[in-house]
Amino acid sequence: MIKSNENFNIGGPFEYQKDYCNSEFQGQFKVLDNFSVNGRSALYDILNEIIDKNVRKIYLPVFCCSSIIECVKKSKLEIIYYKLNSKLNPLVNPKKNTSILVINYFGRISKFVEKYKKSKSKKYILIEDATHSFLNIDFDPFDSSHYIYFSLRKHSHISAGGWSNASSQSKKKYTDNQMLISDIKLFRKKKKNFLNQNKYRENEDCFVNFFRKKEIELSKIYSSDSLSKNLKNEICKYNWMDVSKKRRNNWLLLDSLLGKKFKKIFKYLKKNEVPLGYIIIVKERNKLRNYLKKRRIYSSIHWPIYRNIKKANFKFEVDLSNHILTIPIDQRYSKNEIKYIADNIINSGIK
Ligand SMILES: Cc1ncc(COP(=O)(O)O)c(C=O)c1O
Repeated sequence: MIKSNENFNIGGPFEYQKDYCNSEFQGQFKVLDNFSVNGRSALYDILNEIIDKNVRKIYLPVFCCSSIIECVKKSKLEIIYYKLNSKLNPLVNPKKNTSILVINYFGRISKFVEKYKKSKSKKYILIEDATHSFLNIDFDPFDSSHYIYFSLRKHSHISAGGWSNASSQSKKKYTDNQMLISDIKLFRKKKKNFLNQNKYRENEDCFVNFFRKKEIELSKIYSSDSLSKNLKNEICKYNWMDVSKKRRNNWLLLDSLLGKKFKKIFKYLKKNEVPLGYIIIVKERNKLRNYLKKRRIYSSIHWPIYRNIKKANFKFEVDLSNHILTIPIDQRYSKNEIKYIADNIINSGIK
């Protein structure tokens, strides 16, 4: 029996979560420093560095976040798009003196990255995007002789944060203008209060519009400055360890409740893997998305195919992009919410 949707609000921009603040520095966050404002600024630092090394071409996956493509376009590097196999590993053999950007999709380390680490001759430059994998239990950003970067800012209520191992990173100045980020923080606190007081639903549009507007502002920032010490502290004191545990547990619970109802790209979780979401492939994807939305479960799509890409050349990616759905399983949710999600997905009858 499905419970009333009255008290559920699943997915969408993070509200402030006091419980996750002020923990001890843990794992990789013990040693990280010089954070960028966002992921694209971190990537842009790397791109500038490889241009200085005389690289002029970069291979990019068609299946990626538009911000990556925008960032590379800004750098003026020539883009060559590549295809993926069904496990989302790159199907490409980069030429000498080029670079390739490889994404660890949804938490799974790309086989391409694993191979590159083991190979002796490194004739091209690898850039690893760890945005979906930096929460993995064994993630070590310093364990790489290649470039690595990630964006943290969509994994918690902290609205800023990117990181890279570009060498320019150690020369960063601190930015003093963090107004935009503190404005968003205030709104996240307000969202939390409204949720607690049962006032969120009647004010939802105002919150949604605010977060959308601020996201547009944040996505225009390409800055070589470092985040303020306060924000760095906030990032490092966030309880990422609990986030990892919660996400894994939620994924496993949802998986056990849904059984084999949906096709998944990754059928199981590896031991140290922390998933971004519960990723399914759905024939009538938009119908399921709307069905869930009416029941206050807000899913997302990773990602629409970027405009101007010749879709006929990338049939697998286009098909994937039309049918993939990310169901939220993040640290805000516990058993009750996961059961509510599973009940609704099952009762929708949509496949
Ligand atoms: C895989 C991936 N890499 C990089 C980025 C860029 O990060 P940011 O939005 O912080 O610039 C995103 C954005 O969502 C992303 O999904």
